[in-house]
Amino acid sequence: MKLFLDTASVTDIRTMWDQGILDGVTTNPTLVAKEGRKFEDVIRDICAIGLPSVSAEVVGTTPEQMVAEGRHLRGLHKSVYVKCPMTPAGLKATKILAGEGTRVNMTLVFSANQAMLAAKVGAAYVSPFIGRLDDQGQNGLELVEDIVQIFRNYHFTTEVLVASVRHPVHVLEAAKIGADICTMPMDVMQKLVQHPLTDIGLARFLKDWEKVPKG
Ligand code: G3P
Repeated sequence: MKLFLDTASVTDIRTMWDQGILDGVTTNPTLVAKEGRKFEDVIRDICAIGLPSVSAEVVGTTPEQMVAEGRHLRGLHKSVYVKCPMTPAGLKATKILAGEGTRVNMTLVFSANQAMLAAKVGAAYVSPFIGRLDDQGQNGLELVEDIVQIFRNYHFTTEVLVASVRHPVHVLEAAKIGADICTMPMDVMQKLVQHPLTDIGLARFLKDWEKVPKG
């Protein structure tokens, strides 16, 4: 499973990229707003790090606006995937953009039927928001299971990108289900690395190493 960071922080992205565990980045208007910088500058700086996949979201609401924004974003860098929302306008824009060779990440997906529609119009990624479903008392991971099964049934090549991830168990379960990609905030990715027994074990090894005769 590919691991993406869900952030617009160039610092955090560089940290995880340097650790060698990062496959891509997803951004959204909320995450970009936190950076307090121009959208295009943020996307260009993230792409310059060298990531193969960087999702940048359109904010237009008509197909025409989304297509125009999508063409502009695609032109910023070869790594850009254009994020379009799961609306009738977003589906229309995705079909046009995908037909031109632009890779579209269809976002704000909350049902398996929505995911199937995204695949039918040629989206490269479909992004179910599992944490927000959990927040509503629904099971986000069950949605991922349904989407993975449907895509397998019909050999859709659209990749399932699990988004709105809140904790490491979401990542573990997404991997067991067979999702293609999981995007997560910085704190969740850091938790994947850490384990207290690793820290305790290392401290003990280093302490015992001091007792080994040297020279
Ligand atoms: O980037 C889309 C998604 O991952 C947002 O997550 O935490 O705002 O529900 P969240």
